[in-house]
Amino acid sequence: MARRPADAVRLFRCLECGAEEGPETDHSTCPACGGNLDMVWDFDDLRRLIDRDAIDRSTDDSLWRFHPLLPLHDDFGPPPLRVGGTPLYETAALARRVGIERLYVKDDTGNPTASFKDRASLVAALRAKECGIATVACASTGNAAASLAGIAAALGMESIIFLPADAPPAKLTQIRIAGARIFRVRGSYDDAFDLCEKAAARFGWYSRSTGVNPYTVEGKKTAAFEIARALRWETPDVVIVPTGDGNILGGIGKGFFQMKELGWIERVPRLIAVQAEGASPLVTAFETNGAVKPIRAKTVADSISVGHPRDAVRALAMLKETNGAALAVSDGAILEAIRTLASHTGIFAEPSAAASLAGAEEALRRGLVGKNERVVLLVTGHGLKDVAATSSLLPMPPEIDADLDSVARRLAGGGGKTA
Ligand SMILES: Cc1ncc(COP(=O)(O)O)c(C=O)c1O
Ligand SMILES: [Zn+2]
Repeated sequence: MARRPADAVRLFRCLECGAEEGPETDHSTCPACGGNLDMVWDFDDLRRLIDRDAIDRSTDDSLWRFHPLLPLHDDFGPPPLRVGGTPLYETAALARRVGIERLYVKDDTGNPTASFKDRASLVAALRAKECGIATVACASTGNAAASLAGIAAALGMESIIFLPADAPPAKLTQIRIAGARIFRVRGSYDDAFDLCEKAAARFGWYSRSTGVNPYTVEGKKTAAFEIARALRWETPDVVIVPTGDGNILGGIGKGFFQMKELGWIERVPRLIAVQAEGASPLVTAFETNGAVKPIRAKTVADSISVGHPRDAVRALAMLKETNGAALAVSDGAILEAIRTLASHTGIFAEPSAAASLAGAEEALRRGLVGKNERVVLLVTGHGLKDVAATSSLLPMPPEIDADLDSVARRLAGGGGKTA
């Protein structure tokens, strides 16, 4: 049979101890030490099998444009949902407001389940299919679960979800309506995570949980491909990534490094991880150059409310390799960033997703980015997923009678504007 690009996956390497597993391994984590695995591609092989111009010309405007760079062997054909292919906006008004001249927003709120996580769920669920497993499971703060539930429904698979009992109602509703089997765990995301892993091992489900599945990063890297393509294969100087477990950061970094290996781009951008102050163990580890110490997380940004980051080694390595940085922002700054983003671009982000904008403002203050640099904000989840977090910011406009005089009176009083 003709060689496919996915045949260029050589092995899986443990990010902790360096142990190697063959490409057909059944292990999703390192059998020697439990560390997360990274898929290693042979670029000499891949360069022969992949043609950037053909990919560029493809008429597929989803992440499937890049399917030759996904580690899937079966000939699935385009997926039933349009995942990825999201816009990269250059935002003049926001750029002026923030003081970074070339500021871009990679708006991933328009994915089928309204978050970046669809990129990973699609690839992981297709991998499960390829392995002949029809039931996929994950633990999640909410978005990965909503995503897996939706993607599984589209692919005719069963999904099993573990999430903290206090996940935002909209995310829970997304999961319920898609027909997932749901376990609401009394406890944190970290508790739900541990339980999901035990249950998946016991009952034979395919786990898509972040960090312990090497395929999620491979799905997430497609956002880096899309950013570079939108910039005509020029690399931005900085990409700012809202960070909880660190898997999105790992995926974005991997995408840029792969493009460099393939000769598609000349350099990789600096990556800046943004965490919430109440959930910033990666920032602490980065600043102290030490190991990650799990904490009890507390922040309004539920998607990055992670006390025990599950892909910390990958994320910290990526920050180092890209000469990047990690910083924490307050909940107040995150909420204010939701308003700034929406009122300058029309894009409504959930708190975690707006953390990238709060992070850009902080990075500029600290001199981590220059005002002339080309900076991309990753906006990872839609604001409608957690309306309660945002509406508390805004005064409710008073009711008026349905007549023009009432409108004129309010206008004269300067009223009507809330943001
Ligand atoms: C909207 C949003 N932003 C950012 C993140 C952080 O991703 P990671 O946990 O891979 O760091 C998540 C993860 O749930 C998310 O849902
Ligand atoms: Zn290991």
